Amino acid sequence: MIHLMNTYKRDLYLEKGNGSYVYDIDGKKYLDLVGGIATCSVGHSNPEIGNVINKQSNKLITASNLFCSKSQELLAKKLSKLSGLSKCFFSNSGAEAVEAAIKLVRKHSKKNKIIAMKNGFHGRTFGSLSATWNPKYKKDFEPLLSEFVHVDFNNIKALEKEICNNTAAVIIESIQGEAGIIIPSKGYLKEVEKLCKKNFVLFIIDEIQTGNGRTGKYFCYQHENVKPDIVTLAKGLANGLPIGVTISDLDFEPGDHGSTFGGNDFCCNVAFKFSKLSCI
Ligand SMILES: Cc1ncc(COP(=O)(O)O)c(C=O)c1O
Repeated sequence: MIHLMNTYKRDLYLEKGNGSYVYDIDGKKYLDLVGGIATCSVGHSNPEIGNVINKQSNKLITASNLFCSKSQELLAKKLSKLSGLSKCFFSNSGAEAVEAAIKLVRKHSKKNKIIAMKNGFHGRTFGSLSATWNPKYKKDFEPLLSEFVHVDFNNIKALEKEICNNTAAVIIESIQGEAGIIIPSKGYLKEVEKLCKKNFVLFIIDEIQTGNGRTGKYFCYQHENVKPDIVTLAKGLANGLPIGVTISDLDFEPGDHGSTFGGNDFCCNVAFKFSKLSCI
């Protein structure tokens, strides 16, 4: 692997997958407890997904965002219905979905401070890394975006203390994933929502790991009956194909933001068909 940058420590070569199993280059079979890091929700080589992939790959991969796309619109309509939020911006990864969320906050709030959670994870691009907590991931890349602060997760008093006149948004995972599957106390997310509303602070929920039906509801926050201002989703949205989405009633204007691959027909069509399998 001398020609690959040293971002991941690994030594096992996997060649194929089927259902819950993956096979290495010598044909050895493994039970896959990783699932493409929470992306392959209905397993490897799923025949229903495979069919959609084959059909769409022979029809259209991408014609770019310079043109309208039925697949993109169908998926956006579905996600809007599921979330109760009216607009989608499609990208290619979780970190990009968070970047778009941060830009929406900047555009619509006249305030700068964003409160994130200790042990929270939101990605490794400059904006999303600013929201991520782990100092180990950040130390060689500072300065990051200023005015991000981190408070204890599942501690409403800690959040209340940090909110001030300059607080633009709170960003939170509904279950902290990378921190070790930390489920907040019942009612905590509702309290966060109330606090945000009372202080005119935008409420961002990162559902990148918990969304797509993985916790028994399409979005995990729906267990607590809360309604965020911005939702980010990625990972399992297209059963392993690269796609991310930022969902909100807030909007951009042409030129504010964009992506060459984001919202391509191929990933959107697979995600749309797949959403029928993952909707509860
Ligand atoms: C909650 C959460 N947000 C954001 C990300 C970043 O997603 P990506 O690796 O697709 O950029 C992850 C990835 O693990 C995540 O778990």
